[in-house]
Amino acid sequence: MYSRVLGTGSALPKRIVTNGEFAAMLARDGIETSDEWIRTRTGIESRHFADEAEGETTSSLAVAAARRALEAANVETSEIDLIIVATTTPDMVFPSVACRVQAALGARGCAAFDVQAVCAGFIYALNAADAMLRAGPYRAAIVIGAEVMSRVLDMKDRSTCVLFGDGAGAAVLGKGDGLVASHLMTKGDDDVITIPTRYDRSPWYKNEISEITSVHMNGRETYKFAVMAMSDNIKDLMASAGVAGEDVALVIPHQANYRIINEARRRIPDIAPEKFCINIDRYGNTSSASVPILLDEMNRAGKIHEGDLIILAAFGGGLSAGAMIIRW
Ligand code: ACO
Repeated sequence: MYSRVLGTGSALPKRIVTNGEFAAMLARDGIETSDEWIRTRTGIESRHFADEAEGETTSSLAVAAARRALEAANVETSEIDLIIVATTTPDMVFPSVACRVQAALGARGCAAFDVQAVCAGFIYALNAADAMLRAGPYRAAIVIGAEVMSRVLDMKDRSTCVLFGDGAGAAVLGKGDGLVASHLMTKGDDDVITIPTRYDRSPWYKNEISEITSVHMNGRETYKFAVMAMSDNIKDLMASAGVAGEDVALVIPHQANYRIINEARRRIPDIAPEKFCINIDRYGNTSSASVPILLDEMNRAGKIHEGDLIILAAFGGGLSAGAMIIRW
């Protein structure tokens, strides 16, 4: 592969909603849940929710994360000629979030577009940026995962609304040989996680007033796919790239459920379990933002060193999944 990460950034909405506060909020509508259920079944303790009145949108979070990544990379906006945003909750159907980011950063004229691969989106976007840096006249790219999942939650469905949070993460890529190997996989015939609209024949669309409804998920089926996709993809990728478990410094897995990460790492005994990073307790599932937020946290905490091999792995609606090995 052809590019390397020069810097990372992330941004979270100000408002933190703890499980206790969430349970009290749902109780007002007669929906029962508890801090204990959410913590023990998912590992989540709190999440951040965007406040539209405060101007917190998918684009504003994406812009804030991108600015931090540019600063960390010591790269000027004028050097950026490609912006790719992975999102499943864009502010508008069009223009894309990437267009908004381009305008806010003042990166006039550069290529900018969104990628929709739900929670695996950031890894798909990194692959696209890497291929474009290799093939085209591009010098540097910003790749972002940004979501306001709170906008698409059904607060009467306790089996989904407690799982998600909002946020954004970003990486600046430049030319180099940092992305070692990747594997993308899509299983497009499985509608176990959807956000239906009135325009398809989805059995989940229930004549709701809005054109777009909310997250519908078969949790058990998603769980099975998630564990399989995460563990098989990482093992296959390591085998094809000739990377041994002891060579891996950290694994940055998508944060959907602590139990999924736990089961996946049990199935990859070659990598020491403590190398799997976790922050789901504070953010919940931020979909395409989850991998870059965690990557940025680990980077800023000084846990990633030059030359380290890092594995990114994610899965989500589609069903789609991806894994990637990066040399820092
Ligand atoms: N509070 C209290 N009880 C609840 C809640 C809640 N928030 N949600 C469900 N329950 C109840 C159920 O009604 C059920 O009760 P019953 O036995 O009386 O019917 C009981 O808890 C057990 O429900 P299960 O669905 O069996 O719970 P499980 O242990 O499987 O956990 C979960 C559910 C957390 C959704 C799990 O299946 C999971 O994590 N699945 C994967 C989700 C995922 O990875 N999503 C990522 C993709 S998202 C994307 O791509 C956008």
